[in-house]
Amino acid sequence: MTTRSQTSAGRPPGFAYRESKPRQSKSQSTRGRDVQSVLYCEDVPLPELAARYGTPLYVYSSATIRERYEAFDAAFRVVPHTICYSVKANSNLTILRLLARRGSGFDVVSGGELERVLAADRKSAKKVVFSGVGKTRQELTAALKAGILLFNVESESELSALADCANRLRKTASVALRVNPDVAAETHPYISTGLHKHKFGVPIREARALYAKAAAEPYLKVRGVSVHIGSQITDVAPFGEAMARVADLVRELRADGHAIEYIDAGGGLGIAYDTPGALPFSEYVATYAQALIAPLRDLDVRLLLEPGRSIVGPAGILLTSVVYKKTNDSKRFMVVDAAMNDLIRPALYGAYHEIIPVTQVAGAELETIDIVGPICETGDFFARDRALPAVNEGDLLAILDVGAYGMVLASNYNTRLRAAEVLVNRKSAKVIRRREKVSDLLRPER
Ligand code: LLP
Repeated sequence: MTTRSQTSAGRPPGFAYRESKPRQSKSQSTRGRDVQSVLYCEDVPLPELAARYGTPLYVYSSATIRERYEAFDAAFRVVPHTICYSVKANSNLTILRLLARRGSGFDVVSGGELERVLAADRKSAKKVVFSGVGKTRQELTAALKAGILLFNVESESELSALADCANRLRKTASVALRVNPDVAAETHPYISTGLHKHKFGVPIREARALYAKAAAEPYLKVRGVSVHIGSQITDVAPFGEAMARVADLVRELRADGHAIEYIDAGGGLGIAYDTPGALPFSEYVATYAQALIAPLRDLDVRLLLEPGRSIVGPAGILLTSVVYKKTNDSKRFMVVDAAMNDLIRPALYGAYHEIIPVTQVAGAELETIDIVGPICETGDFFARDRALPAVNEGDLLAILDVGAYGMVLASNYNTRLRAAEVLVNRKSAKVIRRREKVSDLLRPER
């Protein structure tokens, strides 16, 4: 018998420590030590998953994904809306299917992502929005054939290409222009998108002329306006500002005679990587909803939303084993078996991820240490000078909040095999992507 103890520092209940009976401390590294508690994903102890499937291992809590999707949906219940989950955050087929079953639509940015959605649930095509600055004719044609909900067009050239593809197929494309509202939002410069200096969208001042052009095309139907100002934005004010500008544009477009039915508000709501549990998600997402809805007032539109990170981010961890510990002069390092090829966010954005030991041992002292991967680059780190309860070689660590932009950004650098992914639902754990084999990597080159 185990009993539920505290959730790790206000974490969502998908990952929580439970008190441990001594029989659970039978692994090599914890033998002889007084293990107090063990980290679980829902009702499954993580050491069990590591033993069964190996490490590094992505582990997701299905309850967390469901809860967050539902909280998001509930926050917008006062207006007609469709959530189009942003596939780029985590595109695993089983996760897409889980969300489709709850009624989610999808935001895709490539022909590949569209194929993933169709493979997960063919009927979802009619709830797909297609974003991205460089859609090729091939991709536009595939999306037209699939019968998607909306093309978020980002330039005059793309509009011509879409008109051309639609004419050839004699199929009508529903169109929104992605406007660039010139709103600043505080986030990492690599993922801020709403300023005129960024490559995204068309300047909001030029939108009316382009809408007129779209309306003149026989196989284009103007139906919406879309906007996306960036990602990992935790202050809701810039979202409201962007929506106010879009709402003004919608009024102008309607006066010009366009039937605007949709406003696509994009994604971008951030999560608390370093202050977990600051506000319950349902309250936080309610403030976001309020910011978006207030400027719409009497507009009578359907709101499309493209959340990615806020739905799946906290629902995933990366389980990794400590391979070696070493000290270079006075600097301490812990080399783990996951690397920047598995999770690139710290290396690419200097992103912070909380890292916790999977087993909590009585009396473990804090040790300040760099947690690094085995790749031959100094940038291959997960944390620097992090204070962590001392762990030994062979112990397991959990890198938190990696459900979004974790596995999707994984690579095979150093011919490392991409990790397996496991989805937990209460007591059951299912492999939703098997670990790669070297033969998977060599095949296309033979
Ligand atoms: N819609 C559009 C048009 C987007 O470009 C994005 C994200 C989203 C929706 C979803 O945004 P979210 O709700 O997940 O913030 N790799 C970076 C994040 C890149 C985001 C790109 N676009 C990271 O790891 O932080």
